[in-house]
Amino acid sequence: MTQIYQASCTAPVNIATLKYWGKRDTKLNLPTNSSISVTLSQDDLRTLTTASCSSSFEQDTLYLNGEPHPIDTPRTLACLADLRALRAELESKDDKLPKLSTFKLRIVSENNFPTAAGLASSAAGFAALISAIAKLYELPQNSSELSMIARKGSGSACRSLFGGYVAWEMGELEDGSDSKAVEVAPVDHWPEMQALICVVCDVKKDVSSTSGMQLTVATSDLFQERIKNVVPKRFIEMKKSIIDKDFAKFAELTIKDSNSFHACCLDSYPPIFYMNDTSKKIIKLVNLLNEAAGKIIAAYTFDAGPNAVIYYLKENENKVLGLFNKVFGHLEGWEKAESLKSKFEILEKFPI
Ligand code: DP6
Repeated sequence: MTQIYQASCTAPVNIATLKYWGKRDTKLNLPTNSSISVTLSQDDLRTLTTASCSSSFEQDTLYLNGEPHPIDTPRTLACLADLRALRAELESKDDKLPKLSTFKLRIVSENNFPTAAGLASSAAGFAALISAIAKLYELPQNSSELSMIARKGSGSACRSLFGGYVAWEMGELEDGSDSKAVEVAPVDHWPEMQALICVVCDVKKDVSSTSGMQLTVATSDLFQERIKNVVPKRFIEMKKSIIDKDFAKFAELTIKDSNSFHACCLDSYPPIFYMNDTSKKIIKLVNLLNEAAGKIIAAYTFDAGPNAVIYYLKENENKVLGLFNKVFGHLEGWEKAESLKSKFEILEKFPI
C-alpha cells in the first residue's frame, strides 16, 4: 500500500472595510491600492480544506462542496506551482524528506455557509487551500509569506490568512514580493466588535469583481482620484482607528470607503450597479440609527453585490438589531410578495 499524506486547515471569510478595487498587474494580482479588512470568526463563516497527496494519485483533483471541479484556471495552477516549488526547495536540502512535490494532490473543500449567499467565498476558499497545502508540505513560511501565494488565487484571499484586523499592503515592487497581508490587530484587541450580515439577494452577481474592477480602472476618472488622493490617507487613518479602538472614526471611514467604491463603480463606463433598492434602505436605516443616537454606532459596507455587513459594538446590539428587526420585520409581508431578489433576511449575527 502506498502512503497517503494528509493535512486540513480552515480559513474564515473577511469583509473589507477599505476596499481593494483595481489591479496594476493582472497576472501577479497586484492591487492599485492597499486595503483593510475584518476577518469573521472561524466558527461562523469558514472554508475547511483537506489536502492529501500520494505517489499513487494519477492527477490533481479538487472537490468543492462535494462537487468535482477541474483544476485548470491559471490562478489555481499558479498557487499550486508556487507551493510545489517551495516544497521542492525543502526536499533538495534534505534527502530524507518524501518527494511530496512530485505527487499529485487531492483537495477537498467545504464551506459552512451557502456559497450562493453572495458572501466572499473565494477569499476563504483560496486561503484555506494555501494553508492546507502549506501544512501538508510542512513549509516554514509565515502567514504573510503565504498570503502572497493566496493573493495570486484571489486578491482578497491574502487577508484571510490572518484573523482579526488585517491590512493588505499594496507594495511597490514589480515582482509583487512586497504585496502581502499583515496583521493590524488580533481579534482579541477589540472583542466588542460585532458584524451583522444581511443577505439581500443570494443570486450570483452579474459583474464579477475581477472584470468589474478592470472596467473601473480602464474607464473611471473618479477612480484615479480615489487611488491617488483618498485611499492612501484613509489607509493610515483606518489602521489608527483600529489600534485606538475609536469606533466612531472606524465606522465613518468604513462608510465613506464603501460609498467611494460604489461611486467608482457607477462612474465606470458602462456603469456597474452592485447595490439594489433594499441595499439603499439599509443605508438609510443606518443613517437614521446614527442620527437618533447622536453619534456613529453602526457602519455599513457593501462589496461587489447588494448584501450588507453592519459593524457595531456589543453595547449597541439592542439598538441596532432592534431597529433592523422592526423595520424589516414589518416589511416581511410585501417583501415576500416581491421577488426573491428584494427579499431581505438577517442570515445570522456574527461575533467577530
Ligand atoms: C469588493 O478578491 O474577489 O470584495 O483578486 O480578482 O479575485 P480578484 O478579486 P476579489 O475582489 C474583492 C473585491 C471586494 C473588495 C475587497 O474584498 O477588498
